[in-house]
Amino acid sequence: MRHTHKHNILLIGSGGREHAMLRALKNSPSAGEIFCSPGSDAIAREVTCTTLATARDAAAFCREHQVHLVMIGPEQPLVDGWADVLRAAGVAVFGPSAKAAQVEASKDFTKRLCDRAGIPTARYATFHDALSARAYVNTVGAPVVIKADGLAAGKGVTIAQTTAEAEDAIDACFAGAFGAAGHTVVVEEFLQGEEISFFALSDGKSVVAFGSAQDHKRAFDGDTGPNTGGMGTYSPAPVFTPELEAQSLREIIIPAIDGLARDGAPYIGVLFAGLMLTASGPKLIEFNCRFGDPETQVLLARYQGDFAALCLACATGHLHEIPAPKLENNAAICIVMATRGYPSHYEAGSFIGLPADETLPQHVQILHAGTKRANDQWQAHGGRVLNIVASAANLEAARMRAYDSVAQIDWPEGFYRRDIGWRALKQ
Ligand code: AMP
Ligand code: GLY
Repeated sequence: MRHTHKHNILLIGSGGREHAMLRALKNSPSAGEIFCSPGSDAIAREVTCTTLATARDAAAFCREHQVHLVMIGPEQPLVDGWADVLRAAGVAVFGPSAKAAQVEASKDFTKRLCDRAGIPTARYATFHDALSARAYVNTVGAPVVIKADGLAAGKGVTIAQTTAEAEDAIDACFAGAFGAAGHTVVVEEFLQGEEISFFALSDGKSVVAFGSAQDHKRAFDGDTGPNTGGMGTYSPAPVFTPELEAQSLREIIIPAIDGLARDGAPYIGVLFAGLMLTASGPKLIEFNCRFGDPETQVLLARYQGDFAALCLACATGHLHEIPAPKLENNAAICIVMATRGYPSHYEAGSFIGLPADETLPQHVQILHAGTKRANDQWQAHGGRVLNIVASAANLEAARMRAYDSVAQIDWPEGFYRRDIGWRALKQ
């Protein structure tokens, strides 16, 4: 066996995604001491949490605690340049520079990257005023997709079925509904097909696939109700065959990584591609500059390798020197439990009776996305609150395992979908 040196790690973030990342880091033979900022009450039961308000504070913390690797969970610190500051301070970072994080922070940036690199994506045009955007919509007709250019907490996209709806969405963007994020608007062709999430890791030069997943964005069973941040996921996405995966790497991921490197913005970290599997092949809907939430929960449930070593190899430019990561040949599912009323108004502070971790069956985890610990009890403090994650030989077995554990949770104020995975199981 190759000797592995242990590295101290700082994880940035506080949600269910970070709880999943933390569990994978804890299972990594190469991980030394693990810290998390800001973390959560649940994460603080497993590792030391601290609150680092700025990237400079994080760099100072790394010096003080001999941290060699920083893992950045959410997009905002990446877009704000935390990776740049930490790298300048000599720390290895899993996460792109502010410039490379523009793949998520600006839809127009990504569209122009697609143009330069020949990446298949929806036809589009970018506008800086409502009048020209409205005129364009009236030439292309509906259905059509209106997107605020910048980060809009997942709310900046309107699928308009009529040109009137498209015009309203354009007006709302330019009237400031999404702040500065909506001062530039991308109008896109409406793509049809099945949507999947594909993940790839890069050290700026080399690229490896890291699995696929599908999520359920609507709040209620049968994919009805309002859009949410995601009510459940499963991995792999069975529609995403090995052939489609190879094609997506070749036509979308690798050209994007190469294009960013050519532009002087090498991409380090995980590139999350939202793909539409259309009749004429996979097309890019969007890139995210980080792991998905709750996609990470199912991806990492299928990864038994040394996640810390894998991420360090990305962060230090050594990805080509290690064996390509392999997810287990199994399936994983994540059921999101949310507070009643989410995604609109809900009350915080309801009590949750959770089974102790030691009593959970093998291959089941309860991850915390929005809880607090008060008076020796868990309380809900968020829309999406818990992630119940299970893996098994196949999706059907994983799903039974997950719902059995959901049934042991005593939380009258919570709700969840009972049909996560239906699309894959009906195949
Ligand atoms: P985004 O915020 O870019 O993730 O978009 C939100 C959702 O809108 C995506 O996950 C898709 O389901 C849908 N969407 C975005 N762009 C398109 C498009 N060009 N055609 C069809 N659906 C789209
Ligand atoms: N689950 C979608 C995202 O993380 O953006």
